[in-house]
Amino acid sequence: MKLFIDTANTDEIREVNDWGVICGVTTNPSLVAKSGRDFKEVLSEITDIVDGPISAEVLSLKADEMIAEGEELAKINPNIVIKIPMTKEGMKAVKVLSNKGIDTNVTLIFSANQALLAARAGATYVSPFIGRMDDIGNTGYDIIADIVQVFDIHGIDTEIISASIRHPMHVLESAKLGAHIATIPYKVYEQMLKHPLTDIGIDKFLSDWEEANK
Ligand code: E4P
Repeated sequence: MKLFIDTANTDEIREVNDWGVICGVTTNPSLVAKSGRDFKEVLSEITDIVDGPISAEVLSLKADEMIAEGEELAKINPNIVIKIPMTKEGMKAVKVLSNKGIDTNVTLIFSANQALLAARAGATYVSPFIGRMDDIGNTGYDIIADIVQVFDIHGIDTEIISASIRHPMHVLESAKLGAHIATIPYKVYEQMLKHPLTDIGIDKFLSDWEEANK
């Protein structure tokens, strides 16, 4: 499973990119608003940091406006992927953008049928939101398992991005279920990296070394 970072904070992107573990970035309007920066300026900076797919979401809800917005965003860098919400108008926009060779990521996916429709419209990626499913008392993992099964049976090459990840178990289960990608917030990267036995082990190695070299 490939790893993306889910943020518009360029300090966080730079840090995790320096670890060598990520190959893409996802943003959304909430994350860009939180960064307090100009949308195009922040996207352009992200493309300078990470050489891989960078998802940028449209704000319009009408297909023709989504297409125009998507074309404009795609001009920033060839790595820009246009994030489109899972709606009727969104499907029309995905069809047109994908025919023009612009990659798309259909977002706000909460069922395997939605993912199937998005894939058939031509989406490069689908983003099922597992954390938000858990929030309403459903099991987010079930959507990942269903989409993996349907795409496998029917040879669909749209990639599944496990999104709305809230903790390290979401990452591990997404990997075990066969999601192609997980897009992970910075806080969860820190949680994945840490283990108390690693810290205890480092302290012990260093104290043994100092003891022997007094
Ligand atoms: C995915 O592309 C979205 O940006 C993101 O994962 C949403 O996560 P949230 O439910 O934590 O806002």
